[in-house]
Amino acid sequence: MEYRRLGRTGLDVSRVSLGTGGPSRIGQRTHQDEAKSHRLIHRALELGVNLFDTAAAYSNSEAILGRALRDVSRDQYFLATKFTPTVAEGELEVITPEQMIDSCERSLQRLNVDAIDVFQFHGLVPENYRPAVERLYPTALRLQEQGKVRFLGVTEFFFNDPSHRMLLEALAQDIWDTVMVKYGILNLTAEDEVLPMARARDVGVFNMSAVRAKLSRPDQLEQLILKWKSAGLIDASALPDTDPLGFLVCGEVKSVVAAGYKFGAANEALSTVLIGTGDAAHLEENISTILGPPLPDDHMDRIRQIFGGVAESERD
Ligand SMILES: NC(=O)c1ccc[n+]([C@@H]2O[C@H](COP(=O)([O-])OP(=O)(O)OC[C@H]3O[C@@H](n4cnc5c(N)ncnc54)[C@H](OP(=O)(O)O)[C@@H]3O)[C@@H](O)[C@H]2O)c1
Repeated sequence: MEYRRLGRTGLDVSRVSLGTGGPSRIGQRTHQDEAKSHRLIHRALELGVNLFDTAAAYSNSEAILGRALRDVSRDQYFLATKFTPTVAEGELEVITPEQMIDSCERSLQRLNVDAIDVFQFHGLVPENYRPAVERLYPTALRLQEQGKVRFLGVTEFFFNDPSHRMLLEALAQDIWDTVMVKYGILNLTAEDEVLPMARARDVGVFNMSAVRAKLSRPDQLEQLILKWKSAGLIDASALPDTDPLGFLVCGEVKSVVAAGYKFGAANEALSTVLIGTGDAAHLEENISTILGPPLPDDHMDRIRQIFGGVAESERD
């Protein structure tokens, strides 16, 4: 494993980290036996992963993580979790500071720890960024003073904010230790401003959903490319209709998913790339892919040429 500094937190985190949300939720979405999720978490540690991302909203992920890590020394891993700052997903009404404190206490209990390493505002959109910060950030600072959380972060709600307006405002305000962004082959937009700004301000960056959703689903990927071609968003002759990203699969790159994670981990401004999986074999494969050689320069150039002006934006 390689390790990178998580920006101003100074934490040395693994370049690849395990995400317990997304479509897999460490196997909960397929009703996987909890023992298998524990084996996935232990395998991650064996492979050098020292950072786990979770959230109050990810079904039982926090509790599963807490149980799996019960006998692991606390200095072997970092925990990033999140609270939901609005009364319901998609709603703009911000919760009360007391509700945020309750969520933090429940996370501590479920994770079975005294302190959360990174406490994140989950999925803010531009419309509720200011109200959420004004109402809740002072209390988040108090939780930090009390030692319940070490660092504060914010994550975006990408599918509703493909040009990252919320994160741009957050980075400009410069009150966050970390940000979580979606960056990948079909979502290059963070390269323009978010990644350079985060780097300049020494903010730690998690890359979430590097391959979700379409890169990991061949039929949906073909449909998306056809849609972008017919809308004139990408050149009709740029890619074939069938297996449009097949050109990336060659040599050491065994699949489009592998190319997606490789690309999603390559930018130097990223501290860590999250892998959302319920499958230890996938995690192992993705780690070896990410730590292997980068995509060839001509493929990187072709990706930027074709996808520079588009962004996957509909919700999964
Ligand atoms: N707003 C937010 O705060 C936010 C939003 C989204 C995500 N996140 C965080 O980021 C993490 C990662 O995001 P994500 O889970 O959405 O996306 P992701 O890692 O880009 O993609 C996960 C999907 O790819 C599949 N996959 C992974 N490796 C594979 C392989 N080698 N071959 C085939 N399929 C593979 C997984 O299925 P399998 O289970 O079969 O491997 C899953 O369906 C989440 O778990 C969460 O912690 C945060």
